[in-house]
Amino acid sequence: MVFVATAVSPARCHPLWLLGFVALLLPGACGQCGALPRLSHALPSDTNRTEGFPTNTQMTYKCLEGFVKIPGKSDTVVCLSNSQWSNIEEFCGRSCPAPPRLKSAVLSDEDLRKNYYPAGTNVSYVCRPAYERTELSPVTTCLENLTWVEAPEFCLGKSCGVPKNPEHGRPVDATNNRFGAKVNILCDDGYRVSGRPFIQCSLNGDQVEWSELPTCQAITCSPPPNITNGMHNGSHLESLDYNSSITYKCDHNFSLTGEASIYCTTRDNINGVWNGSAPECK
Ligand SMILES: *[C@@H]1O[C@H](CO)[C@@H](O)[C@H](O)[C@H]1NC(C)=O
Ligand SMILES: *[C@@H]1O[C@H](CO)[C@@H](O)[C@H](O)[C@H]1NC(C)=O
Ligand SMILES: *[C@@H]1O[C@H](CO)[C@@H](O)[C@H](O)[C@H]1NC(C)=O
Ligand SMILES: *[C@@H]1O[C@H](CO)[C@@H](O)[C@H](O)[C@H]1NC(C)=O
Ligand SMILES: *[C@@H]1O[C@H](CO)[C@@H](O)[C@H](O)[C@H]1NC(C)=O
Repeated sequence: MVFVATAVSPARCHPLWLLGFVALLLPGACGQCGALPRLSHALPSDTNRTEGFPTNTQMTYKCLEGFVKIPGKSDTVVCLSNSQWSNIEEFCGRSCPAPPRLKSAVLSDEDLRKNYYPAGTNVSYVCRPAYERTELSPVTTCLENLTWVEAPEFCLGKSCGVPKNPEHGRPVDATNNRFGAKVNILCDDGYRVSGRPFIQCSLNGDQVEWSELPTCQAITCSPPPNITNGMHNGSHLESLDYNSSITYKCDHNFSLTGEASIYCTTRDNINGVWNGSAPECK
C-alpha cells in the first residue's frame, strides 16, 4: 500500500517534475488531493465537494445508518502535502442500541459513557438509591442479532418496615411496605384524620422511610340546636363529645312533640353532627 501511494501521485508534485512542463499535463494539480477514500460503512459528511481539495483540508466521515463510530478510531482524513489523503480505516461497527432503561437500576458509570455496544458486549447495572440488590446478576448482553438479552428489574425497592399506628388509628392493607408503597390510615370511630390520610414509603437521602404519619383527633360535636320554650341538659357544657346524647325538656305548660333525645354521630368521620331534629315545645 505504501509503495503504491508513493509511486503514483506524489510524482506530479516532485520538485524535479516542477521544473518541467510535464507536471502541467498530468491529471490533478500539484498540492491538491483527488477523490476521497471510500469506506464501506461511512460517507463523507460534506458531499458537495468531490475533488480538488487543497493541502491540509480535513474531511470527516459519518457512519451509515445502523453503524456506530468505534471509540478510538479516527473518522477524519487530511490532505497531505504529497497530494495524498492520510490513511483511514473502517471506523464504524454494528452496535446494539442504547441498553434498556430500568426503573430500579441505572447503567454503571463505565457503561453509561459508551455508545458503541458490539455483539457480545456485557453491560452492568447498579441499583438506584431507593432500591437494593437481589440474587439476580445485574448484567445484560448484546446478542448477535444486535438486540439486548431481556433485562428484568434487577433491584427491589428498599423496605420502610412495618408502618406505625397513629394513636386512635391504624394503617389498612399494609401488605406492601417497599419503596413507592402507599398505605391508608384509618382513624377509630369518633376520631378524624388530621393531615394526609395515607403514608408513603419514600426516599430520604439514600434511605427510605414512611412519610409523616397523620394524627387522629377526637371528633367534637357542633353546638346542639336550641329550642323555644324548652331546654336541653347539655347547655352547661362547653363542648360535647362524639357519641354523647342530649335530652330536651319543655317549660311548664308546654308539651314536647318529636324525639326528646338527639345523638352526636358522624358522617365519614369528618365532623360530629346531631342526628334527627330537635323536638318542639307547644
Ligand atoms: C434475537 O436473538 C434472540 C436469541 O437468539 C431471540 O430471542 C430474539 O427474538 C431475537 N430478536 C430479534 C429481534 O430477532
Ligand atoms: C359510640 O357508640 C357506639 C354505639 O353505642 C359504640 O359502638 C362506639 O364504640 C362508640 N364510639 C365511641 C368512640 O365511643
Ligand atoms: C342528658 O340526659 C340523658 C338522659 O338522662 C343522658 O343519657 C345524657 O347523657 C345526658 N346528657 C348530658 C350531656 O348530660
Ligand atoms: C299553667 O297552667 C295552669 C292552668 O291553666 C295555670 O294555673 C298555671 O299558672 C300555669 N303555669 C305557668 C307557669 O304558666
Ligand atoms: C340517632 O342515633 C341513635 C344512636 O345511634 C339512634 O338510636 C337513633 O335512632 C338515631 N335517630 C335518628 C333520627 O336517626
